[in-house]
Amino acid sequence: MSEHFDVHGGARLTGEVEVVGAKNSVLKLMAAALLAEGTTTITNCPRILDVPLMADVLRSVGCDVEIDDDVVRITTPAELSHEASSSAMSKLRASVCVLGPLVGKLKKAVVALPGGDAIGSRPLDMHQNGLRKLGATSSIEHGCVVAEADGLHGAQIWLDFPSVGATENILMAAALADGTTVIDNAAREPEIADIAAMLGEMGAKIEGAGTSTLTVEGVAELKPTEHRVIGDRIVGATWAFAAAMTRGDVTVTGVDPHHLELVLEKLRLAGAEVTTYDGKGFRVRQPERPESVDFVTLPYPGFATDLQPFAVALSSVSEGTSMITENVYEARFRFIEEMVRLGADARTDGHHAVVRGVEQLSSAPVWASDIRAGAGLVLAGLCADGITEVWDVFHIDRGYPNFVENLNRLGARIDRVGTPGPEAD
Ligand code: UD1
Repeated sequence: MSEHFDVHGGARLTGEVEVVGAKNSVLKLMAAALLAEGTTTITNCPRILDVPLMADVLRSVGCDVEIDDDVVRITTPAELSHEASSSAMSKLRASVCVLGPLVGKLKKAVVALPGGDAIGSRPLDMHQNGLRKLGATSSIEHGCVVAEADGLHGAQIWLDFPSVGATENILMAAALADGTTVIDNAAREPEIADIAAMLGEMGAKIEGAGTSTLTVEGVAELKPTEHRVIGDRIVGATWAFAAAMTRGDVTVTGVDPHHLELVLEKLRLAGAEVTTYDGKGFRVRQPERPESVDFVTLPYPGFATDLQPFAVALSSVSEGTSMITENVYEARFRFIEEMVRLGADARTDGHHAVVRGVEQLSSAPVWASDIRAGAGLVLAGLCADGITEVWDVFHIDRGYPNFVENLNRLGARIDRVGTPGPEAD
C-alpha cells in the first residue's frame, strides 16, 4: 500500500507560509563539504527525503554525517574513498555532484550514475567534457562515471548550454586545480551563487558568481565552514501560484523576491496584486479569476522549467488561452496528461502546449511523475470540484517540507492516506 493525498477542492488559500533552504542548493553544498577535511556545518536545511539520501551518498565515501533538525554537519576524513556507490545514488540527481569534489580532492572518482526525476534525457557530457578540459579522463563504465587525473590544471571551458549541474561540478573541481579556470556560458541560477559563496568562505577564489562567466583561481587547500542555505525559490513560487490559482492572499517569507522577479511579473500580468519585501519575501493576492498568460521556460533568469507544471495548472483555470513553451526538459509535458484527467483543456505539440482555461476542474485520481508535477496536481486539485486523489506522493516529499501541513494551515483540506511506500523509506 502506498500513500496518496485526498485533496478537497474549493479552498481559497490565505495566510503566511515560511520557506526554508533550497533543495537544489543544500544537496550541492553537502557535496562541497567533501573538499575540506574537518566538519562543515550547513544551516536552514529543508527536512525533505533528499537530504538523508545525500547524507548516505557522503557516508559511502567515508564522511560522518549528522542531521539535527535543520542543521547538517558533515565531517570529512583525511582519507576519503573515491567510490560513491550508495543505493541512494540512484534516487536523486544531485548525487552526481560528488563527482567534481572527488576529482578535485582525490584526482579520482567512480560515481554511480544518478537517478532523480523522470523529466527527460539528462546526459552528463558537459560534466565530463569540463573535467577533461581540466586534465582528467572520463568514461562511463558499468553504470558509473569514472574520472581520473594525474593533476588538474586551469582551463578555458565553454559550456554548450548553461547546465546547473555541470557548472557546479566543474566549479568544485577547479577550486583545487593548479592555475585559473574560466567557465563561459555558466549557469546563473541563485543556487550557483550560493555554492560559490560557500566555496569562497572555504577559501576558494571565485569571481563572477551569478554571471555567465565564472573565473576560478585554484588553491591548494580548502577549509571547512558554516553556511546558511538560501531560501527555496521554487517552493516560494509554488505558494505564489497556489495563491493565484485559488484567488487567495498568501504572504511568503524566507525567500528573496529578487530570485523570482519574472515569476512575480507573470502573476501580476495574470491579475495578481504582488508586494515584495526586500530580501525577505512577498505577498500575492488574487482578487479575480486569473487571466491567461504565456510562459517560456529558460535557464535563469528565465522562467524556471521546475515551475512549468504550475504555469500549466494556473493556465488551466485562467480566463483565455495560454501558450507554454518548454525549452529545457521535453518530458515535463507528461504532466499535461494528468491535468487532462482533471478536466483541463490542454494539448501539446512538440515543446509547446496550448491550454484553454476552464471555470473549474473536475476531481479524478491522478499520478505524480516527479516532484513539481506532483505539487502541480495538488494545486489543481484545490481548483476541482470534489476530492482529487493524488498518488505517488513520495515524489512530493522529496522536495516540499511539510507540504500538506502548510497547505492545511493556509485553509486547504488535504488528507494524507495510507502508509509510506518502499520509495519513502
Ligand atoms: C537542475 C535541477 C533541476 C532543474 C534543472 C534546470 C538539481 C538537483 N536539479 O538539474 O531541478 O530542473 O537544474 O534548472 O539542482 N544537459 C546536457 N548535458 C549535460 C548536462 C545537462 O545535455 O552534461 C542538458 C539537460 O538534459 C537539460 C539541460 O541541459 O536539457 C539543463 O540541465 P541542467 O541545468 O544540467 O540540470 P540539472 O543540473 O540536472
